[in-house]
Amino acid sequence: MSDILKVGSNENVLGPSPKAKEAVVAALADAHLYPDRHEDTLLEKLAQRIGDGLTKENFLSGNGSCDVLRMITQTFIRPGKKSLIAAPTFSMYELLTGMFGGESIFVPLDNLTVDLDAMIKAGDGDVVLVFVCNPNNPTGTFVMHKQVGEFLAKIPAGVITVFDEAYMEFADDPEFPRMTEFITAGYDVLVTRTFSKLHGLASLRVGYGFGRIDLMDQVRQHKLHFNSGRLAYLGAAAAVDDEAHIQESLAMVKNGRRYFYQAFDKIGIRYLPTQSNFIFLADLPMDANYICNEAMTRGVILRPTDPFGLPGHIRITIARQAENERVVDVIREIIKK
Ligand SMILES: Cc1ncc(COP(=O)(O)O)c(C=O)c1O
Repeated sequence: MSDILKVGSNENVLGPSPKAKEAVVAALADAHLYPDRHEDTLLEKLAQRIGDGLTKENFLSGNGSCDVLRMITQTFIRPGKKSLIAAPTFSMYELLTGMFGGESIFVPLDNLTVDLDAMIKAGDGDVVLVFVCNPNNPTGTFVMHKQVGEFLAKIPAGVITVFDEAYMEFADDPEFPRMTEFITAGYDVLVTRTFSKLHGLASLRVGYGFGRIDLMDQVRQHKLHFNSGRLAYLGAAAAVDDEAHIQESLAMVKNGRRYFYQAFDKIGIRYLPTQSNFIFLADLPMDANYICNEAMTRGVILRPTDPFGLPGHIRITIARQAENERVVDVIREIIKK
């Protein structure tokens, strides 16, 4: 069936950055070669784009941001040590903590938002890592700059807080944290980001992390040589400069949010205001799995959030206007049946 609409995995429905595509196709002829200075070029570009005095040495790349999260966890977690993790959130933090012999302490969301105060209280002397997904997957809610500042001032020195900003480019709230300020102020904080969402390059597998140089040097010890290929580095570097694709993707998501807010207000389905490229539906009038299964029979793939430990809700990736309208039509039809 060619008209399947997949809005369950927060991919960019516009497809890859055209400049990235062009760069990858051009580089195919060199696929027999290992990368050369390609990673350096990408990291230099990222340092330049993010600015605020950061240099290439503040950055490292990985095979997707999950690989960067892996390097970070491998650096700091060992048997007997613990991570603090919001619940529910992206599952990778718990998985990686267990993979390296650590234990996860879960801190429930407050009002479906990461509760930084509760995280401070939940910690004990064995905690070495804190994971904050900002904006949070699957809720799309976020913690603010001021809250992060207060949290970092209280968290014991030596405990590393990782802000997973896989969706940060879609955030437009002026209170969204400016993490470089906390890095240059010297806090024990690391940030991860990805090319999988905004830039539409999920299958190239490129993500990156940044933080204080001494912390990045420790994390880099767990980086495998050639952990991404020439094509991936060249594609990602081209995507950084693809302003047209970036702006088109941001406009799609921002217009889509407004459309969904109005449409779900009209149907009477509660949603959470989102800072991401997805929207979280709450208090559904019928079983979320039933709605998702019925939507699937109509060719629309939505994501029920029970695998996150949040049964009864649905997460929807924001797409183009006609696709968003199709999603709303399908949900309206199912709940009115
Ligand atoms: C919060 C969060 N972090 C990281 C990732 C993984 O990104 P990558 O493709 O860069 O490994 C995802 C993917 O869905 C995500 O939702």
